[in-house]
Amino acid sequence: MLKKDFLWGGAVAANQYEGAWNIDGKGPSVTDVMTKGSVDHPRDITEGVIEGREYPNHLGIDFYHHYQEDIKLFAEMGFKCFRLSIAWSRIFPRGDEKEPNEKGLEFYDAVFDECLKYGIQPVVTLSHFEMPYYLAHEYGGWRNRKMITFFIHYATVCFKRYAGKVKYWMTFNEINNLIDIDNPFNAWTGAGVLYKDGENAEETMYQISHYQFIASALAVQEAKRVDKEMQVGCMLHFGPIYPYSCDPKDAMASIKAMDRRFFFSDVQVRGKYPEYTKKLWQRKDFQLDITDEDLAVIKDGTVDYIGFSYYKSTTAKFDKENDFKEVPNPNVPKSDWGWAIDPTGLRYILNVVYERYGLPMFIVENGFGAYDKFENGTVNDNYRIEYLEKHVLEVLKAVDLDGVNVLGYTPWAAIDIISASTGEIEKRYGFIYVDQDEVKQGRAGRHKKASFDWYKNVISTNGACL
Ligand code: BG6
Repeated sequence: MLKKDFLWGGAVAANQYEGAWNIDGKGPSVTDVMTKGSVDHPRDITEGVIEGREYPNHLGIDFYHHYQEDIKLFAEMGFKCFRLSIAWSRIFPRGDEKEPNEKGLEFYDAVFDECLKYGIQPVVTLSHFEMPYYLAHEYGGWRNRKMITFFIHYATVCFKRYAGKVKYWMTFNEINNLIDIDNPFNAWTGAGVLYKDGENAEETMYQISHYQFIASALAVQEAKRVDKEMQVGCMLHFGPIYPYSCDPKDAMASIKAMDRRFFFSDVQVRGKYPEYTKKLWQRKDFQLDITDEDLAVIKDGTVDYIGFSYYKSTTAKFDKENDFKEVPNPNVPKSDWGWAIDPTGLRYILNVVYERYGLPMFIVENGFGAYDKFENGTVNDNYRIEYLEKHVLEVLKAVDLDGVNVLGYTPWAAIDIISASTGEIEKRYGFIYVDQDEVKQGRAGRHKKASFDWYKNVISTNGACL
């Protein structure tokens, strides 16, 4: 049985749904210079906004002008919480200003008040793929230590302004995406960094991560100073990487592959660098800017809970050169975007992570991106219901049978939004269908899918209907 106050809800990120990218003083974010891509064509990252190119995040789904009707629909589903992010560049358009943009602050006041009116608790990420473009362009993003000061100023302004309205915060969305240095999407959206030719990207990645660890730890400390009740979590992408086979070498490969995911939570939860990372730095002779003072900050700013996303799992096979290589799992089906569908993986990761850290777990993303067919004013998205149902059943097992402390579940996404990796609206996740053409014509374009009523029932019975 789930706790009575289990936080059922839905999740989104500002850059993917707000739109209004240059309205009321907002500055461009790193995502505002990303063009539309597709399943087999990556998004381009352009130098500024170029006329004639298509930037889907500029319009999003125009939540900025439709937040009242959208939140009303979330309330109708019975949401207890709503996970959203604050667009950093709405508060600090360039990122290095002293004074915040009052209009931006007012917008989130209005959104949070609207949520609270219905008893919906906002759960807020401070940095979700949307740092100010200016900071990336002029300062080199998180390769620059100055980012810590800018971020803490921004975080402190938010904590002070929204104290009493927001209890649950997260610092950096999927901070561990940074580990994958081969895909430019990760360093750009996560840190405003594009690796240069000839640069040791891996060494830079550890430096960037270090600065973000300090910033995150300082944010935890600052939140407590503002309001002792605030809970600040880390946010990681947690998909299990199983051993490909029972060959002991594959089992070891799986541990090495998972170390790369856990490195980030190990630091943010335990407050110190793990031994396996220190050894790696020694072996590779990485020279990082890490001071004793930094390490003390990291030690004193450990997180209160673990927020994480779960979409898919994969497997690791032994590889002589790199310890392991990731290979697809032949035992699980895939979505149209090639994402493995593995509900058991959610129970698995809840167990593994809870056993490792013993902190409350918050599933802040889980969902099924699919091509929806909009017919007769709705979408019969039984495939999405099936995906979510199977995953929630695994959460129930983790709670009832394994004793994992789960705070809540906010599927991705509360409503259709722009896909982060491809920039498509066609990769739909929501309980509410958004007709982009209607939005462009100035209408709301919101339509309930079959999953809307399904989820409403799940929430009202606290999962007992499954
Ligand atoms: C997570 C991100 O990685 O996955 C979200 O936190 C993202 O921002 C979600 O939207 C789903 O990925 P995509 O690429 O299908 O939108």
